[in-house]
Amino acid sequence: MAKRVLVTGGTGYIGSHTTVELLEAGYEVVIVDNLSNSERTVLNGIRKITGRKVPFHKVDCRSLASLRRIFVRYGFDAVIHFAASKAVGESVEQPLMYYQNNLVSLMNILQLMRENGVRNLVFSSSCTVYGQAEKLPVSEQTPRREATSPYGNTKHMCEDIIRDSVAAYPEIHAIALRYFNPIGAHPSAEIGELPRGVPNNLIPFVTQTAAGIRPMLSVFGDDYNTPDGSCIRDYINVTDLAKAHVVAVGRMTGDKMKQPFEVFNIGTGRGVSTLEVVRTFEKVNNLKLNYKIVGRRAGDIEAVWADPTYANEELGWKAEKSLDETLQSAWNWQKHLGEKKSK
Ligand code: NAD
Ligand code: WQD
Repeated sequence: MAKRVLVTGGTGYIGSHTTVELLEAGYEVVIVDNLSNSERTVLNGIRKITGRKVPFHKVDCRSLASLRRIFVRYGFDAVIHFAASKAVGESVEQPLMYYQNNLVSLMNILQLMRENGVRNLVFSSSCTVYGQAEKLPVSEQTPRREATSPYGNTKHMCEDIIRDSVAAYPEIHAIALRYFNPIGAHPSAEIGELPRGVPNNLIPFVTQTAAGIRPMLSVFGDDYNTPDGSCIRDYINVTDLAKAHVVAVGRMTGDKMKQPFEVFNIGTGRGVSTLEVVRTFEKVNNLKLNYKIVGRRAGDIEAVWADPTYANEELGWKAEKSLDETLQSAWNWQKHLGEKKSK
């Protein structure tokens, strides 16, 4: 019988791509999402790609009772917990909302997993837990640094809540995947990132500038201690990232874990500068991007990229897609959105 996975935040950016990869790998998926940062129409995109209609429930993970009904109605072999608020700036303005949403949702999931005998949890963590590391690239052994935003702090705290829960409750196993910078869209352009309002992240700002929705991209700083002076990140294709979740679920349900709580860096291992992203985007999509260099953005990390060796060797997962292909997919998705709007 096919294994069934609960995907919280499944209509979101990474959740929708992961749902597609899970379905294509033969899993059954049930999505819960409160649609606070996504649209129901994402389900159509998933259906177009996979030919499958995924059970969807508009549920807020902060509501224990509503979530309990889902756990009782379906039996799950694993939970992938994406549902969270993720805007760093907003978290500084509304810390209580962030702590409430990100921590309570996770604690509800853990409680219901125990209540319902669901052993396996995959949790969305972030490279934000490393802050500005002294040594690059960062491995899972790199010490975490004090968070610089309430959002970052929720990832620290969630990892700690999971670690303590797994230690106390042997019936629960967990894998935390620390994502680097997920970008791009499904090659079909049926699903992708749907930022609300003015995007904070680089790639949606780039694609919206190319589409004429924004007049100009600001590149935040060219005076960093990097080869071209702009910041460096590890940009990981969202489909590659989605596949890491499928592998993690397979590892857990196949009893292949070495410890009951494991942590993996999910990145490419390659650091790319902001200006390199801009130039590559222009080259692969054959267009000119309107941009200017401005001052540094407060709170930005100068450089971070992953050492993904542990994930490569232990999970047998590796980022496969090139930056060229990924930036093409981001632009194709933006064009697809434009076409849908003009219809
Ligand atoms: P997203 O906002 O696109 O997806 C999150 C989804 O969760 C949204 O659909 C939202 O409506 C839903 N949601 C939020 N709170 C909820 C709640 N209480 N109950 C039910 N649904 C709720 O974000 P994403 O980029 O897909 O990120 C997914 C996860 O990955 C998040 O935990 C995020 O912190 C983490 N992450 C993201 C990035 C990134 O750069 N995108 C990097 C590292 C980690
Ligand atoms: C990337 C680079 C900017 C926008 C954030 C969160 C982090 C994680 C991923 C969840 C930086 C530069 C950006 C723009 C620019 N999320 N930039 N002009 O800051 O690496 O990380 O998302 O866990 O926690 O902090 O991503 O996409 O915002 O920026 O020059 O308009 O692009 O300075 O160097 P970041 P980002």
